[in-house]
Amino acid sequence: MSSPKRKAISNGDDAEDTKRQRISSDDAPTDQAEEIPFLPSGAAPDSFIDHKAAIAYWSATEPTVNGVLGGYPQVSRIDLQGSSNFLAKLRRSSHHHPSSKKLNRAVDCGAGIGRITDGFLSKVAEVVDIVEPVKSFTDQIQGKPGVGEILNVGLEEWHPQRDGHGPYDLIWTQWCLSQLTDVQVVEYLGRLPAVMSEGGWIVVKENLSNHHLDEDVFDKTDSSVTRTDIKFRKLFEDARLGVVLTELQRGMPKGLYPVRAYALQPR
Ligand SMILES: C[S@@+](CC[C@H](N)C(=O)[O-])C[C@H]1O[C@@H](n2cnc3c(N)ncnc32)[C@H](O)[C@@H]1O
Repeated sequence: MSSPKRKAISNGDDAEDTKRQRISSDDAPTDQAEEIPFLPSGAAPDSFIDHKAAIAYWSATEPTVNGVLGGYPQVSRIDLQGSSNFLAKLRRSSHHHPSSKKLNRAVDCGAGIGRITDGFLSKVAEVVDIVEPVKSFTDQIQGKPGVGEILNVGLEEWHPQRDGHGPYDLIWTQWCLSQLTDVQVVEYLGRLPAVMSEGGWIVVKENLSNHHLDEDVFDKTDSSVTRTDIKFRKLFEDARLGVVLTELQRGMPKGLYPVRAYALQPR
């Protein structure tokens, strides 16, 4: 499956596991797996993405860390620490955004309940905007210190330049690009340079498919696609973004999908 939760969670390292969907939504942290639905030959996994089904799934999910992480709340601390270290590395070599000073403005994209804003982004940026389609999630972060604008839209519908958002020093997109089709990912990423400050970064942090045939995997539970590293790099290329730093998240519990962070800048 694919929510960052189970996205973050997964079939482990062996090929047999990759033939199965992961854990089902209602009993996430078990070893029970459901069969991958039959995909007609040649159909791209992302062609099965249904935004309405995804929003229905997320709207019915409890607005807690446990809910947005699919029953693996313990992953949050490890993830936030890894993200903090990753940003520190980026800033160490930055003339525009050195660590000595807070960033002016960041945005948390596909933010859920604002877990990342609350635990990390609001500590490193003066203001953090939130983009997240599910209002019951953003109600949890509304009014907290450092939170700026809250936009209840999907990333495929967010046009930050047209709507006067930014400029952003940091655009954090985690465990939600799987909800977009490949074309939508490229279009979304392609819109971002226009609202980035000089020397700013886009960070994409997502589960990676470790399918034995290097294929993306559709997950019908939250109607999402878990992509391979190769696919991500192709989408970044198509959006004319270069990878300036990338790192695997360390310390994730065994049996979950690998999680990789990519820092991107316009080519
Ligand atoms: C697994 S949660 C991750 C939330 C947050 N990024 C975190 O790491 O805590 C996935 C989030 O993606 C959101 N989502 C679903 N469809 C989306 C879309 N089209 N655009 C942006 N976010 C979407 C869900 O509502 C949910 O909040």
